[in-house]
Amino acid sequence: MRKILVTGGAGFIGSSFVQRAIDALHDSRVVNLDSLTYAGNLQNLEAVAKHPRYRFVRGDIRDRALLGEIFTAENIDTVVHFAAESHVDRSIVGPADFIETNVVGTFTLLEAARNAWLKDGVNKRDSRFIHVSTDEVYGSLGDTGAFTETTPYDPRSPYSASKAASDHLVSAYFHTYGLATLITNCSNNYGPYQFPEKLIPLVIHNAVSGKSLPVYGDGKNVRDWLYVADHCDAILKVLAAGRPGETYNIGGSSERQNLTVVETICDLLDRRLGLLPGDKPRRSLITFVKDRPGHDRRYAIDATKIKRELGWAPSMSFEDGMRLTVDWYLEHQSWTEAVTSGAYRDYYRRMYDER
Ligand code: NAD
Ligand code: TYD
Repeated sequence: MRKILVTGGAGFIGSSFVQRAIDALHDSRVVNLDSLTYAGNLQNLEAVAKHPRYRFVRGDIRDRALLGEIFTAENIDTVVHFAAESHVDRSIVGPADFIETNVVGTFTLLEAARNAWLKDGVNKRDSRFIHVSTDEVYGSLGDTGAFTETTPYDPRSPYSASKAASDHLVSAYFHTYGLATLITNCSNNYGPYQFPEKLIPLVIHNAVSGKSLPVYGDGKNVRDWLYVADHCDAILKVLAAGRPGETYNIGGSSERQNLTVVETICDLLDRRLGLLPGDKPRRSLITFVKDRPGHDRRYAIDATKIKRELGWAPSMSFEDGMRLTVDWYLEHQSWTEAVTSGAYRDYYRRMYDER
């Protein structure tokens, strides 16, 4: 029976992983540690909130004492580490939180695992520390090629630099202390429950209400899109059979220019909702805006290794995934309203801070 500490399990990918872990690992216990920043939302976890093998702890991964208590009380043998500041644009405006959570937080978590698992130089049996990272650590590609696990690191935003730093710390804990760490570097995710500051949910939200759709620069930057459930399945495979000390690249083999992604959303919404007043298609809302500083041109993942070693491949096509995602946002407009209005943060304040 795995006793799993998931960090950041109230966020977009973490909440999807928590649900899948509870469903797929029948004898596991999942403790979700999340500080509930603007990106964390317990509504994402309503389906498992009362499950007997699930526990939520509100807390910060930088809280050394709390981590010690959780590792001991829950006899944690597995960490799946999602907690992070995750939005590039925010990292440009204010990098400090990215260094605090992504670098100092990961370091604090590694120390907690080392203290709990490497007592007297003996590694706790079957312990695993999975560090969930991004393809952005590898930098920016030209028109051809794809990132492999041996591509040199070349991060170019404060976000990717902080993730790169944390990857290096994780790797160092394997080589120096023998901690059973594994790193996954994944391409851009999309799907339900993604905070509407990222491209896809932001464009859906704006396009539903007829607001302008900001496309940075010339719109020709390329991302390799992966449906969030496929990412979580890949992490479960890494947990089951990945080799400690290894890195696994995870990607969707679905490269698209940003403009194509935005146009896809516009066309899907036109079909679902009809044209805008005046018979205007939603593509007319597209507005080219000033480029993001240091904007990486192209990301693409070569996922040969995880396919060969662990038998993982994405199951969702980009077209099907986008249809599901657009439909989900249409059916859950109250979720988007709540997270953009901050209503859920008032709820947390009442739930936790004022008690
Ligand atoms: P997210 O921003 O939606 O969620 C992050 C979660 O971490 C939130 O619930 C937040 O409350 C929590 N958190 C933040 N700081 C914390 C702290 N100090 N202590 C405890 N909890 C804290 O992020 P996401 O998109 O779900 O990404 C999850 C992980 O996957 C990140 O590590 C990210 O780098 C990585 N990743 C994301 C993508 C993507 O496309 N979204 C792609 C590859 C890798
Ligand atoms: P984003 O979802 O922020 O992910 P990342 O920067 O981690 O890849 O952005 C995806 C792409 O879309 C990226 O090239 C920046 C671009 N983008 C826009 O053109 N307009 C927007 O409003 C946003 C948020 C992103």
